[in-house]
Amino acid sequence: MSTSSNNMPTPALPSTFGVRIAGTGSCVPDRVLSNKDLEKMLDTSDEWIVQRTGIRERRICDPEKGESNRTLCVKALGRALEDAHMQASELDLIIIATCTGESTVPAVACRVAAELGAEGAAAFDLVAACSGFVFALNTAHALVRAGAFNTVGVVGCDQMSSILDYTDRSVCILFGDAAGAAVVRVTDDPAKGLITQCMHADGTGWPDLYLPRHAEQLIAAGASEDTPLGKLKMNGRAVYKFAVSRFSELIEETLQKANLTVEQIDHFVCHQSNARILESARERFGIPEEKMYVNIDHYGNSSAGSVPLCFDQLRQAGKITDGQLVMFLAFGAGLTWGSSLWRL
Ligand code: ACO
Repeated sequence: MSTSSNNMPTPALPSTFGVRIAGTGSCVPDRVLSNKDLEKMLDTSDEWIVQRTGIRERRICDPEKGESNRTLCVKALGRALEDAHMQASELDLIIIATCTGESTVPAVACRVAAELGAEGAAAFDLVAACSGFVFALNTAHALVRAGAFNTVGVVGCDQMSSILDYTDRSVCILFGDAAGAAVVRVTDDPAKGLITQCMHADGTGWPDLYLPRHAEQLIAAGASEDTPLGKLKMNGRAVYKFAVSRFSELIEETLQKANLTVEQIDHFVCHQSNARILESARERFGIPEEKMYVNIDHYGNSSAGSVPLCFDQLRQAGKITDGQLVMFLAFGAGLTWGSSLWRL
């Protein structure tokens, strides 16, 4: 169990107001890239991929049709606003968690705000790789709780296909593209909102999962100098070990901080990294299948998009409802890991 500096009980904040998730939305590209398609491109097999990862297919953007990280974000947040019966003009902040934005200047969030008509809203991007949506949700909650903003659009989106080397079978088979969004809003019901959160990073593990931009990074990471720049590089075994151990620690830490038990949690909405990683945590804690949703078979690992995509699918299916206790969990490059426990 990690004993990091923010592993402290969350102080109970007396408050006359709460924070609620007023709506959710998501968007995945139409184009399906199946394991059979990958078999035609690479020395791999459907059997190997399904057995090692649980993935059968993933969605990827078609740039020729104008699809991109930005267009997925606009659609996902637009749908979340519709779900919340709100106009974009009511948003006063947009946070987009992404590590595959089509630009760093400007932030994707600024263009998304403009395209949706969120005039006057503040907007910025947040980079925490696969942990991005959970970190952004915690940030949004803290800003609403502090009284700085009333209504925040939080999006998690990654267009992983834009940073994959489709000749590297050990990495490209894992990922897909997706966006999910939530509208976080102040409410006069003080029972609603975040109960506790955990956010951690360990930068010493960066060479296990990174996007090389310079030859110096390759040298520092001990990678061969002819490794392609701009394509995701991963030490699968090291990431697997990190994910399995941190995932369990994170569940324990979050429950401890909230003084709750596994049985009291209605849903564990988890980053979809690998079906085996999810299964190991489910078995260890005795979490029933219906409390830990898995959609990796159809969407692969969509990095910051995976948690909000699961959340939206569960809400739209009527499986997650108001008043329930929901724990969001994610881990990824950085290395980073975090949770967000809500009373909806
Ligand atoms: N098809 C067929 N064979 C393959 C493929 C493939 N797509 N990829 C690798 N192999 C081969 C390797 O070359 C190796 O062959 P060898 O023994 O002859 O050298 C063999 O399969 C075993 O390779 P490993 O890398 O040891 O396979 P492993 O069982 O570890 O599975 C995997 C690889 C699926 C990537 C696993 O390590 C994993 O899931 N790691 C976690 C990665 C992850 O979740 N990343 C997401 C990003 S961050 C996050 O979300 C946490």
